[in-house]
Amino acid sequence: MRFSDRTARIVSGGAEAWEVHFEAGRLRSAGRDIILLTIGDPDQSPPAVVIDATIDALKRHRTGYSPIAGLPSVREAIAARILRRTSVACRDQNVIVVPGAQAGLFCAVQCIAGPGDEIIVPEPMYATYSGVIGASGADVVNVPLSPDRGFHPDTAAIANTITSRTRAIWINSPHNPTGAVLTAAELNHVGALCRKHDLWLLSDEVYEDLAFDRPHISAWSLRDISDRVIVVSSLSKSHAIPGFRFGWIAGPEPLIQHLINLVLSMLYGAPPFIQEGALSALTDDLPTVVALHEDYRRRAALLSGLLAKTPNCVVHRPEGGMFVLLDVRRTGLSSTQFAHALLAEEGVAVLPCDTFGPSGRGQLRISLTVSDIQLEEAGRRIERFAARLASSVR
Ligand SMILES: Cc1ncc(COP(=O)(O)O)c(C=O)c1O
Repeated sequence: MRFSDRTARIVSGGAEAWEVHFEAGRLRSAGRDIILLTIGDPDQSPPAVVIDATIDALKRHRTGYSPIAGLPSVREAIAARILRRTSVACRDQNVIVVPGAQAGLFCAVQCIAGPGDEIIVPEPMYATYSGVIGASGADVVNVPLSPDRGFHPDTAAIANTITSRTRAIWINSPHNPTGAVLTAAELNHVGALCRKHDLWLLSDEVYEDLAFDRPHISAWSLRDISDRVIVVSSLSKSHAIPGFRFGWIAGPEPLIQHLINLVLSMLYGAPPFIQEGALSALTDDLPTVVALHEDYRRRAALLSGLLAKTPNCVVHRPEGGMFVLLDVRRTGLSSTQFAHALLAEEGVAVLPCDTFGPSGRGQLRISLTVSDIQLEEAGRRIERFAARLASSVR
């Protein structure tokens, strides 16, 4: 049977990098002691108030269809939250509820780009982005994020990449996998480029509550590009509920109208009991979010400190997010070889960053989603492995 051309375009690259993750799962099922640091699935408990509200909504049989754009109370709460955080007006008509930031990114790109168009994305970039852009028919144009700049964007390089085909610049801060948190100057610069060249600014802010070194600044706060800014976010990371598949898109009203058409034909709205469960997380600043932020800040410092003297490796201390990067280029192994050998010999599973783009080559992404004790143990094992490697190379 024939498949559409789109099926080839939605394949996210770097399948071999995920092999480490799958192999770790197999080893763990076979009874081996494996520390799994491959994916960004928070280990913390979700806020009790969210769970209780969800159960309560289910008991009240909030199991029918929701309005396509989301429950009015939930859209209002998201808009109010954005206003609270950015001091820039946001109305419920600027918001649509989607099942997670991933769906939000997919839907947004479908509405702003198509075949022949280009979207500029700094890389390394989150592994799903290429499939999202590919599905729209547009092409990804990458701009490298150099470790020498702390993985912060070179806005001049971005400007040089803009062509008549460019439709959008896609940013992600705090950034997966590098942990970079954009400065106000960088954000302003990218916003100015979008205004000057008539482009969309697509901002993935899924880690917005996990900025450590400087405050997260939402692209929504760029006042003079409100007709072209799209913010996608969710509660997946901040509230440890990725399984809820609860997220949103905020953007100009005409875009939201198109998104409503898209969501109607694709999803027919989001589950009402999930939306009602999430409501208190939107209206109140829950203490669990502060605790979770503190966990990742502390763990990032802990692991970065532990790995600081790892032979032939350079640790990159993140400014935010849920991951630490380890540069293993001087070990003589590729990051994929390093990750496989580390798993086999020490039972620690980390993700080679090759899958995130060429600038991720030689980097390992280490997830901070385990307890401090496990993280310390993982750090010790990584250091022991690297030391063995260094002595065998000599
Ligand atoms: C950068 C980035 N964007 C989007 C997502 C998807 O988030 P959600 O679970 O809300 O769909 C992730 C998940 O890991 C991510 O790392």
